[in-house]
This record gives sequence, structure tokens and C-alpha cells, in this order.
Amino acid sequence: MIEQASTETLSENRTLWWQHGVVYQIYPRSFQDSNGDGIGDLKGIISRLDYLQWLGIDCVWLSPVYPSPMADFGYDISDYQGIHPLFGNMDDFDELLSEVHSRGMKLLLDLVPNHTSDQHPWFLESRSSRSNPKRDWYIWQDAREDGTLPNNWLSVFGGNAWEWDEITGQYYYHAFLKEQPDLNWRNPEVQQAMLDVMRFWLDKGIDGFRVDVMWHMIKDLQLRDNPPSPDSKFNPEDLIYDHYIPVYSTDQPEVHDIVRMMRDLTDEYDERVLIGEIYLPIEKLVTYYGQDNRGAHLPFNFQLLTLPWQSQQIALAIDQYEAALPAQGWPNWVLGNHDKPRIASRIGKSQAKVAAMMLLTLRGTPTIYYGDEIGMRDVPIPMNEIVDPQGLNMPELNVSRDPSRTPMQWSSEINGGFSQYKPWLRLPYNSGRVNVEVQKQDPHSMLRFYTKLIALRKEHAALNIGTYTPEYSDEQLISYVREHSDSKFLVILNLSHRPGYFRPRNGNYKGTVVLSTESERNGMQVEDIIALGGDEALLIKLS
Ligand code: GLC
Repeated sequence: MIEQASTETLSENRTLWWQHGVVYQIYPRSFQDSNGDGIGDLKGIISRLDYLQWLGIDCVWLSPVYPSPMADFGYDISDYQGIHPLFGNMDDFDELLSEVHSRGMKLLLDLVPNHTSDQHPWFLESRSSRSNPKRDWYIWQDAREDGTLPNNWLSVFGGNAWEWDEITGQYYYHAFLKEQPDLNWRNPEVQQAMLDVMRFWLDKGIDGFRVDVMWHMIKDLQLRDNPPSPDSKFNPEDLIYDHYIPVYSTDQPEVHDIVRMMRDLTDEYDERVLIGEIYLPIEKLVTYYGQDNRGAHLPFNFQLLTLPWQSQQIALAIDQYEAALPAQGWPNWVLGNHDKPRIASRIGKSQAKVAAMMLLTLRGTPTIYYGDEIGMRDVPIPMNEIVDPQGLNMPELNVSRDPSRTPMQWSSEINGGFSQYKPWLRLPYNSGRVNVEVQKQDPHSMLRFYTKLIALRKEHAALNIGTYTPEYSDEQLISYVREHSDSKFLVILNLSHRPGYFRPRNGNYKGTVVLSTESERNGMQVEDIIALGGDEALLIKLS
């Protein structure tokens, strides 16, 4: 028998926290400094948990806090079962976990299984000699017969992905920095070691993982050359990643066996979640739900961060995503993260509220990037202050990720209330004006808009687990209906700066505006053809 639609199979009392909740990503270096070194830490995060609870967050995901030489700001891990002293110690972590739980929230850690730091003891052993038992834990290759590199694979951060090791006379593969050698996931000992890491944290009681670069985890067995991309703007000698299509270095069929192993382990525990970082087109992305839905619970859906902000393209992408989801596959949406420009910088301040309403009213779990709730923008970082390796390696491309990783703007105090000391990245000049404290007082602020949206989403099952039905879209607007039992909402988003008209396709809609980007419109009745202002978004409770 064919499965019934989602509302039937996911009845209200059967949905899980990660389906109806809101996820919030913290970049720990930039959230709150408690010990005056200019870098955020775990105690700082603890001191801000009341804020997150007030905001209505259900789950906090921390970017890596493990010991690391910080070549890639923590995504180069040298000990998977510790805490970097910059962030605190294991007691601080335990306290954080229990403080998060005592507020009824969940905590996710970042798991980085694709690569370690080159300072990780596993790699130190592996590179010590060709006969070391851990040699095969990483991807070692001889030069080709003519002395050239094993293949044409490039590093995401620029340059070749192969690093020559003088001592043992072989190359090792690194998809990212040379300080981040890729593990060989074909080796069962590697698989076991990483599952042990997961078990260590799950036993502690964390609520799951966001798995870093999930689609990179396993590579072509023959290490075949990647084909050049027909759309490349680069020359092969530029050694820029996008010159090739990574068909052999990523998204290999065997990756699903690994994800499945991770999922099986996760499922030994109650209601834990596995989120995958995956940048792939929709039809490939959805394969990460796994066969019989036994893969990642939530393969991150990054379409809102990668597509042009154009209503028809986005409306189509939403529908294609909805249509491509496997039965029982739960959707999710993301507007920002520590690798991409902030939404308010990408689409502009005037559209940021429209985007927030989209994120929090689409069907699926939303992930909010810290600071987006106050409309933080990318901060211009002078060239001589750039610290992100991606920015440093490719200075001419303007791809540094520093601008979207700047300290949280809490108040009008020095350094935005983030730290007493010079922060590791600068704040914008206007942080005295754009911050949590100021916006809490202003009923029309972005922050208050976010809190209302989150509260409405929590209050109405229609907005979190309800069905999604596209209603109308044109070159300015996107509109859809969310429905659950007898409650029904209409969302209309104007993605343009000009006024536009909502022209219902399926009969007349009549209802009350429960939230508008212009708060003056809240509470008003609307029906028939509805006129929207430029940059306006409406959430309407239908009568
Ligand atoms: C992921 C992380 C990014 C990191 C990279 C390498 O894409 O989000 O910050 O640089 O993996 O670990």
C-alpha cells in the first residue's frame, strides 16, 4: 500500500524534537568570551543560554570545540574526545550539557570524520613509516610513473590535494588544507575508531551530531581523474577547485554504507539526530536519507544559501525539494552558516525579514545561524586581518569566511559585550546600534520579529508539522499554505522591493494577519487579491 501523506504518518504526538524544533548554530569562537582572551568559550555560551531560551531555540549545534592546532579553526581535530583549552575543559562541557538540558533544549556537536589534523596521533603514526599499522588509515599514494601527482584532484581551499611526504616518499590526500589529511574510510579500523568517538559523546548524553562534509567521506577506489567542468571560469593551472567536477573524489556510492553505520549507532540511543553537511543538487542530496530512510535524519538543505534570491527559482526549488523527498524523509532549511556570506549581506537588509519568515514557515526543521536573528551583516575585514585559510589561500577571489564569523553583537558595551579584550575578529562599526540589547527594546526590530515567528511556529502545529501546499508565485511573490487538522495559514512573501499583488489560484482566502514584516499590519483582515508592500511578508491565519 502506498504511504499516506506526511500529516498522517507524522501525527502530532509522534513527531520528534528535531522535526518540530528550531536548531541554532553557535560558532564558539564568536559567541561569548568569559575569560577575556578575545575568543569565545564554553562558559561564555553557558552565560547566554537564557537568551537562547528566551528566543525560543530548541537545539544548539556547536561548531568544533575539540583540541586542534586551529589551522582551519577547529575543523582540524587532534583529539576527538577532548576540549580545546581555549574553550575550557571537560567539566565546562559537562556543565554546558546539563545547563542546556535543564532548559529543555538539546545539544549537538560537530563531528569531523572525513579528516583529522596532521597533528593527530593517528596521522603522526601513519606518516612515521610505510609499515606503520596506521599507514592505511590515511590515503597514501605513490607518484605516477612519470613522477607527477597521483591524479588531478584539487583542494577545496586551492592548490593540489596531494602533499608529498619527504620521509616516506609518498603523497597523502587532503581535500582541504594539507594540515587536514583525509582518513581512509575503506579501512574498517578507521570506521571503528570513529564510531567509538561517536559513542563516547552519545554516552555522555549529547543529542546528536552535525557531520562535517558527509559527501566527501569516501573516494573512488581507483582514484580516477576528475573531469573538467564545462562551466569553469578558471584555467587548470589556477588550481581552483571549481575547475573540475568532483565526480570521483566525492559522493561515491559507498558513502551510504558509512552513513548507515553512523545511523545504526545513533539509533542505539533514544531520539538522537544525525545531520549531514552536504552540498549537492537536490536529487543527489535526498539519497543521503538512505535506503529505507536509514541514513542521515536531516541531510542539510542549503538551497536558500546557494540559489539566486529570485521568487520563481526559489518557489520551484521548494517544490522540487518537496517532491524529491523520500517517504518519511523529513525536510529542513538553512539560511546561513559559518562558511557562507550572511543572509542580510547576500540579499540585503530589507529582504532579511522576508527570508526569516520563509525559513520559519516552510515545512521542515529550520537552522538559524547565530546573529542572523539580529540581522548581523558580513563585517569588512581589512586584508591584513584576514585569518581564514580559504581567504588567505585565494586572496584574489574574495572568499574569506571571516566576515560571517565575527563576534556576536550583544550590547552597546565595548566590543559589543562579547569580550573585554580585543576580539579575534573585529566587530562592525555600528555594533553599538545593531545588537541584542537595543533590539530587545524595539518592538519593530529583527530580533522581536524572530521571537514572534518562533513563538507562532511553536504554538501552531500547522506551522511546524503541517502540510505544505504551494499556492501562487510570480516574478515577485512566493506563497503557500500550511495546514494541520482545522488550522490553516497562508504565507505570502514578496521577494522584490516593489509592491506586488497576491492573486489566489484556489478560490478566495480570508483571514487575519498574525505577523507582517511591517508590524502595523498585524491583526488586520485580508481577503481576495492582497496587495503587499515591497519587501513585505505576511503570515495570515485563515478563517
Ligand atoms: C566544512 C566546514 C568548514 C570546514 C570544512 C573542512 O565544510 O563547515 O568550515 O572548513 O568542512 O573541515
